[in-house]
Amino acid sequence: MERVLGLLLLLLKLVHASPATPEPCELDEESVRCSCNFSDPQPDWSSAFQCAGAADVELYGGGRSLEYLLKRVDTEANLGQFVDVIKSLPLKRLTVRAARVPTRILFGALRVLGYSGLQELTLENLEVTGTASPPLLEATGPDLNTLSLRNVSWATRDAWLAELQQWLKPGLKVLSIAQAHSLNFSCDQVRVFPALATLDLSNNPELEERGLISALCPHKFPTLQVLALRNAGMETPSGVCSALAAASVQLQRLDLSHNSLRDTAGAPSCHWPSQLNSLNLSFTGLERVPKGLPAKLSVLDLSYNRLERKPRPDELPKVENLSLEGNPFLDFESHSEKYNSGADTTAAPSSLAVGLLGTLTLLIGDRLFV
Ligand SMILES: *[C@@H]1O[C@H](CO)[C@@H](O)[C@H](O)[C@H]1NC(C)=O
Ligand SMILES: *[C@@H]1O[C@H](CO)[C@@H](O)[C@H](O)[C@H]1NC(C)=O
Ligand SMILES: *[C@@H]1O[C@H](CO)[C@@H](O)[C@H](O)[C@H]1NC(C)=O
Ligand SMILES: *[C@@H]1O[C@H](CO)[C@@H](O)[C@H](O)[C@H]1NC(C)=O
Ligand SMILES: *[C@@H]1O[C@H](CO)[C@@H](O)[C@H](O)[C@H]1NC(C)=O
Repeated sequence: MERVLGLLLLLLKLVHASPATPEPCELDEESVRCSCNFSDPQPDWSSAFQCAGAADVELYGGGRSLEYLLKRVDTEANLGQFVDVIKSLPLKRLTVRAARVPTRILFGALRVLGYSGLQELTLENLEVTGTASPPLLEATGPDLNTLSLRNVSWATRDAWLAELQQWLKPGLKVLSIAQAHSLNFSCDQVRVFPALATLDLSNNPELEERGLISALCPHKFPTLQVLALRNAGMETPSGVCSALAAASVQLQRLDLSHNSLRDTAGAPSCHWPSQLNSLNLSFTGLERVPKGLPAKLSVLDLSYNRLERKPRPDELPKVENLSLEGNPFLDFESHSEKYNSGADTTAAPSSLAVGLLGTLTLLIGDRLFV
């Protein structure tokens, strides 16, 4: 019985604390948030029971390995009367950081959490080791809304998403995978995510367009609306467009900010998803508006780039909400306004020089690139 409750919190009441060790778990005054730091070599695991009344639980493993627990835990134990206890827990958000966790323990914990009301699960800096057999029943595991993984490595390599998916109910809406060790999914094993609206693959600088094609398993994300690819090694908007077309992904919003993008003049034209209405190209180092953007958008964010002149209407899509702040041409504009108004005559020669330099750069730029 104890074994089962312990598993519920990914922890076991195995080692009894010596009186000297500080309590690893702290519950806040409102009894909403509870966090445990188990970095002590002999932590008092039972302290985690303090968190049973919290909605928001964070467990920090200090990088320790939980492999020794394998011998002591029955991850397939009949939960019996504990199902009711688990159902009554207020737990909504769980974060697990910094540990080496056998797959069997992780999936065993998901099975137990399947009876809880858990909505958000975050796994960070985990090394998931070994293999586990698939669940006996369909749709075992928690009914998550949001799953976030950051720097999680899996012994099962490319099969990890398909295996993890078997331990989640199908209602997942938001999936974030950052600093992934593999996004080259075995797509034939991945099942459809019938409710997934947001896929965030940001902070995978080695993904690139090539990797994006294998990460976006075709027909597995039929309800996708938002794709975030910040800092994901994307190189050109048209390359991303081709990857989306190859995976036949439909989207409304695409975030390509914080990639080093370049324009690809002369790239074969590509059909953007027909519902795409918001494109974020901010912080991408663009010196000009790339060719081949969607013809019409509600929102286009071109802020914090290197545009040296104001884009002409024929270079832009039809767009309702255009953001251009933080581009160098705006500095020129404000300088020349100053000059024209004559308010600050001492600044005039240098503003003029800057303006000339800008014009010259544009002329040379046009010669070189058009
Ligand atoms: C956990 O506790 C250790 C020592 O008690 C401390 O060095 C570390 O910063 C703590 N980590 C977190 C995430 O609280
Ligand atoms: C990623 O997680 C591993 C543990 O699995 C840890 O050793 C490493 O420092 C983490 N890397 C980063 C960048 O946090
Ligand atoms: C991705 O997986 C496929 C097989 O599913 C394999 O042929 C290919 O080499 C893998 N790519 C990378 C970059 O690991
Ligand atoms: C575009 O991305 C930047 C940086 O990631 C962000 O600050 C900005 O709010 C985004 N713009 C829109 C319109 O969402
Ligand atoms: C334009 O988009 C920005 C960022 O999403 C938003 O704050 C602003 O209200 C929008 N403006 C209009 C006119 O829609």
